[in-house]
Amino acid sequence: MDKQDKGAGMDRRGFLTRTAAAAGAGVILAGGLNKTGAQTAGVGQAVEKLDVINVGIIGVGSQGQLLLASCLKAGQAIPGLRFKAVCDIWKFNRERSVHMLNAYNRSKRYGQVKQFTDYKEMLAQKDQLDLDAVIIATPDWLHAEHAIAAMHAGLHVYCEKEMSNSLEMARRMVLASRKTKKLLQIGRQRRSNPRYINAIDKLVLKHKLLGRVMQGYAQWNRAISQDMGWPAKHAMSKKDLARHGYDTMTRLRNWRWYKRYGGGPVVDLGSHQIDILNWVFGANPKSVIASGGIDYYKHHEWYDNIMCIFEYENPKTREMARAIYQVQTTTRRGGFYEAFTGERGGLVISEYPRAGNWLEKDPYSSDADTWDKWAKLGYIKKVDQSKAKGNAKNAKPTTGITSGPSEMMAKWALPTKLSTLPHQPHLKNFFDTIRGNATLNCPGEFAYQTAVAVLAINEAVKSQKKINFKKKDFEITT
Ligand SMILES: NC(=O)c1ccc[n+]([C@@H]2O[C@H](COP(=O)([O-])OP(=O)(O)OC[C@H]3O[C@@H](n4cnc5c(N)ncnc54)[C@H](O)[C@@H]3O)[C@@H](O)[C@H]2O)c1
Repeated sequence: MDKQDKGAGMDRRGFLTRTAAAAGAGVILAGGLNKTGAQTAGVGQAVEKLDVINVGIIGVGSQGQLLLASCLKAGQAIPGLRFKAVCDIWKFNRERSVHMLNAYNRSKRYGQVKQFTDYKEMLAQKDQLDLDAVIIATPDWLHAEHAIAAMHAGLHVYCEKEMSNSLEMARRMVLASRKTKKLLQIGRQRRSNPRYINAIDKLVLKHKLLGRVMQGYAQWNRAISQDMGWPAKHAMSKKDLARHGYDTMTRLRNWRWYKRYGGGPVVDLGSHQIDILNWVFGANPKSVIASGGIDYYKHHEWYDNIMCIFEYENPKTREMARAIYQVQTTTRRGGFYEAFTGERGGLVISEYPRAGNWLEKDPYSSDADTWDKWAKLGYIKKVDQSKAKGNAKNAKPTTGITSGPSEMMAKWALPTKLSTLPHQPHLKNFFDTIRGNATLNCPGEFAYQTAVAVLAINEAVKSQKKINFKKKDFEITT
């Protein structure tokens, strides 16, 4: 520990308090879908108010590195974070992150980062490292092992989605969070994205801008791609790979496609998007049917193209709605987005503006005045069409609404933009919750419910049967 750290360590411990409410509660209130579909965020774990939070990270592949950037990027850094430990079995990724973090820490006059290949050694040193929290961005099959061990070591956990490729292991993560009273945030970052919160919680659910929502549609399409490679001179030895459960570098790098390590593209991507369907419909699905196959990448184990239909029942009115979801890995057509149509209009939204977010108003409705009213209140923005080049179809597909087919995407806009990397608000929500200033937007307890629906897609493809969910399928009682 250098001087800076010592001083900061004393400060942060001096500052440490437990909030009375949380300490008194000492229990987890079940997170769930409330009537608006927003997460009730009822984790009642004890929270600590820390001015400095010491963090370790396990798994620094592409997502781990993006999460680090999301925490530390100049101009949007989350205040008071110190990365003290990095764990990754692959030296190539580990050293890249250590190099980046040490440069950052030097610029702030913090101490050096300690690196590990074995997460157990990192957790064994959590007291020397003075760790408070750990970020987990390893392949899905390891999330439960890593998250459960970290919570039992007394650390709060931010764990990437999907919670696990096994529902039983996801369930055990929730039980560990309950038992240890440690925070468990799952990395479905749209739950903290102000554009999604504004569009879904405020416009669709609270103000019913679309009227009753009748259909959902979401897709994540990707172009044909080669397997991920690696620099030959940085390949891990067969022995080291085997020690960590991988038989080849190909499998370490392309774990998503193999049943032992992940749930395939539909779990990887559907984890985010089925969650959005649940959010808008304010419920977990009633059933799913799906069709998919290993159509193109014959050397993989998981389906490369999948189409499915979810049925939703409004918990209050019993009215039905349906949603189509598809993941195609042999075309990038349309990219990735979620769309909803209702009696009075529609919403199309995506994490990245390039996919286009716009609200679509029913051309035959007489809602123009109503929508003007929303614009006056600042909930949506009226776009000046005189500035759009050519006809409205050519207007930039950033954040527009239509009032009819001839005015596609040009008249109305969602006002809320994200000014940070997309993961930053979700990570900030996690660290704010540790400090006692927020509640988790996607606690494990809540994320589990989406995992049930997401993992069922593969089952529906395999069995060629409709899967009907029961209420108790989404609950964890023991
Ligand atoms: N929230 C999002 O938008 C988002 C986006 C991409 C990925 N993810 C999730 O992030 C996680 C990682 O995905 P990725 O794309 O970065 O994969 P990746 O393969 O690029 O990175 C995984 C890293 O984990 C390391 N690793 C493997 N086994 C390990 C072990 N036993 N101990 C320590 N390190 C180990 C690998 O060496 C690698 O560096 C996955 O769960 C994925 O679903 C989330």
